[in-house]
Amino acid sequence: MRHLLATEGLTYDDALTILDTAEEMAAVTSREVKKLPTLRGRTVVNLFYEDSTRTRVSFEAAAKRLSADVVNFSAKGSSVSKGESLKDTVQTLDAMGADAIVIRHSAAGAAAQLAASDWSEAAVVNAGDGTHEHPTQALLDALTLRRDWHAAHRGSGSSTSPRGTDLAGMRVLIVGDILHSRVARSNLWLLRTLGAEVHFAAPATLLPLGVESWPVTVHYSLDQALAAAPDAVMMLRVQAERMGGAFFPTAAEYTRRWGLTDERLATVADLTLGETQSPALILHPGPMNRGVEISAAAADAPQTRITEQVTNGVAVRMAVLHLLLTGDHA
Ligand code: CP
Repeated sequence: MRHLLATEGLTYDDALTILDTAEEMAAVTSREVKKLPTLRGRTVVNLFYEDSTRTRVSFEAAAKRLSADVVNFSAKGSSVSKGESLKDTVQTLDAMGADAIVIRHSAAGAAAQLAASDWSEAAVVNAGDGTHEHPTQALLDALTLRRDWHAAHRGSGSSTSPRGTDLAGMRVLIVGDILHSRVARSNLWLLRTLGAEVHFAAPATLLPLGVESWPVTVHYSLDQALAAAPDAVMMLRVQAERMGGAFFPTAAEYTRRWGLTDERLATVADLTLGETQSPALILHPGPMNRGVEISAAAADAPQTRITEQVTNGVAVRMAVLHLLLTGDHA
């Protein structure tokens, strides 16, 4: 792997290698070793044209835990406001030295354009491009799901580590603004590659054209989707900023029909992970709008894994940077 641009097309072997390396990174850094020397002398540039909390900070933490130097660039407050192009911005940062460029951009395809260009020799990681893909988010979601899936199903005598296992047979329901969600798209492709069954639940107005031809079961009622007994429910934020101010429907109506309310949390609490006694999981990539797509009780429920997703994001991003810049497998 030279770049990480998407989960569509990521092979089963490469996906498992990233997840297994992330497990190794998490295991090592949770013990006495807080910092690994593997990227000493390398520079990671975080090039963010859109706002971010989790992705930008966790890429910075991941690079620093691998002993890399980090340059953080935010389009806000930069010469982008004076009209500087992506090409000239990349070439400016590259001239100061860049071994990896982590890019978030509002334009779908921006990361691929950079990777295909001669603007830089750096490895490119897509940290979210428009509504297209957010591959490291899907990888950290898979790492989170896999731990519980493995723990729930492991028989006596099998390994406590989920390494080497996939998500075969798991049913994952993704709910909400699929139309604008790069997280939904990246999750769909990765979850399918790992053997999971993917369901979407959304109003017809928040589904992409042509979704019927995607490898996903589409529900037009959240209650009917929950009746299909998913093993995990991933709630998505309504991305009003991508709707030109036309939020549909009203927030209250959206919550009533599509929110993980306290009443629906009671339904989810009765669901299990496959045939086991372990509870079904609740995820959210963040940022959350509590009280809109997810109630406070659901966000903080025992089977909710939102904090674990954030923690796992550092390990996944360490794994991606390590694999791209050294080629060494865990
Ligand atoms: N999930 C996610 O991408 O969050 P940020 O926008 O805060 O990075």
